[in-house]
Amino acid sequence: MKKLWATTGLNILLAGLLVFLLFYYEGTEHTAKAGGETTEGETVSAQKAEEIASTACMTCHGENLKGGAGPNLNKIGSKYAQNDIENIINNGKGAMPGGVITPEEAKIVAEWLAQKK
Ligand code: HEC
Repeated sequence: MKKLWATTGLNILLAGLLVFLLFYYEGTEHTAKAGGETTEGETVSAQKAEEIASTACMTCHGENLKGGAGPNLNKIGSKYAQNDIENIINNGKGAMPGGVITPEEAKIVAEWLAQKK
């Protein structure tokens, strides 16, 4: 009799654990989805642009593009349009060499920089 109670108790406990795990799983799935949404669209290209810029541009333009050997780019969007920036990246300007990144990358970075005003 004692043994029966013990197994019943254990079963209830396991059932509870299962329900808990199900809810827990659902919860994590939802958060994962919500996280995915924020990385879609614009955020994704901004993130990519920052990634490219941090390796290809910061060597000269400084950390966070605040300026170094090259000028500060944090307000470059108020000086140049996206096309102009893309042009500078692809063809260079003065002491800046062109083609440090691919034209496809240049487009992404230019779009991102053009919004910095
Ligand atoms: C080898 C160093 C170097 C690298 C790498 C470099 N730049 Fe430059 N950049 C410069 C210099 C120097 C200037 C100033 C050129 C001039 O006006 O004579 C400049 C100018 C610019 C300008 C024009 C700024 C203005 O106010 O006229 C933009 C836009 C720019 N760089 C963007 C970028 C981007 C985006 C990247 C990365 C893809 C990058 N640069 C990589 C050195 C560099």
